[in-house]
Amino acid sequence: GRPIVTDLLSCGEPDLPTHALPPFRCCPPAPASDAPATNFTFPDAGEPLRTRRPAHGATGGTDDSVARYARAVALMKALPESDPRSFYQQANIHCAYCAAAYRQAGRPELPVQIHYSWLFFPFHRAYLYFFERVAARLLGDPGFAVPFWSWDVPEGMRVPPEFADVSSPLYDPMRNPEHAPPRVVDLDFSYVEKNCTDEQQIQLNLRIMYKQMVTNAPLPSLFHGQPYRAGDRGMPGAGTVELSPHNIIHRWSGDLSRANHENMGAYYSSARDPIFYPHHANSDRLWEVWRGVGGGHADFTDPDWLDSSFLFYDEDARLVRVTVRDMLDVGRLRYTYAEVGLPWLSARP
Ligand code: C2O
Repeated sequence: GRPIVTDLLSCGEPDLPTHALPPFRCCPPAPASDAPATNFTFPDAGEPLRTRRPAHGATGGTDDSVARYARAVALMKALPESDPRSFYQQANIHCAYCAAAYRQAGRPELPVQIHYSWLFFPFHRAYLYFFERVAARLLGDPGFAVPFWSWDVPEGMRVPPEFADVSSPLYDPMRNPEHAPPRVVDLDFSYVEKNCTDEQQIQLNLRIMYKQMVTNAPLPSLFHGQPYRAGDRGMPGAGTVELSPHNIIHRWSGDLSRANHENMGAYYSSARDPIFYPHHANSDRLWEVWRGVGGGHADFTDPDWLDSSFLFYDEDARLVRVTVRDMLDVGRLRYTYAEVGLPWLSARP
């Protein structure tokens, strides 16, 4: 086989659902010069290690990572829309890779789709990596890390309160109003509100976590998703955590009164909600956790996975080509996750 390779020139009209909300195009701006994308290089080993912390622990105390995240989002929103580092363009990245704007090289009838396949975790890791570095640059704070929404532990099973504050840059009016805090998340949400106590919901969520992280994910193809190579139609099959809780959190968060459950409930619009990035920090954290639980798990070694590549603008607005291979060692990427415990490990159904 051959890997999926993203090419800026092959970006065009996205395939949007009916009644989609503008913008209707989501390709990135052209690079400032004709210089081709440079290949990814690892950050300097002397850079401060960015510690991503739980959003639920960041109210008061010495950890102000949610407040810093709010400032970063405000700064990104203040950049002109033409700037690849603006919040507008950062949100568009998700649309471009998820709504068929990018086409496979030489096969314009085949989109590049990074969901429901083995590209899910590495693509979103790279996306968040550059988003975080842009945020850190704008803040002038090289140690800045995106907080994670720890919906897998009881303390994190609510929308962090700052995101529900209408005066915060983290607020998004297009969310399910019934799910504002202190409503406990339902990791099994299928559009019907459950009639159970918070404690029952928490126990159900912990059992789902165990099932998705341990019982049903002994192999990389089960955890990550199925192989997807150049020439394939796409969406061969999602991994456990992508389906649930990842997709379920999107469904639970979006506004069901909107045509496509915007923002979080639709691929094209989900990254327009600032909660998308802490949601993905937690999904990415679970990839790290999966590698260590149940006696340990190894990722794929297939070169078609390792050589798949994506394009991002970095904090200097330079276009960079990143491969999956570049995204496998968070220590070399200079970030880590604060420990929040793994209470679901003892919630074997
Ligand atoms: Cu690209 Cu949470 O989805």
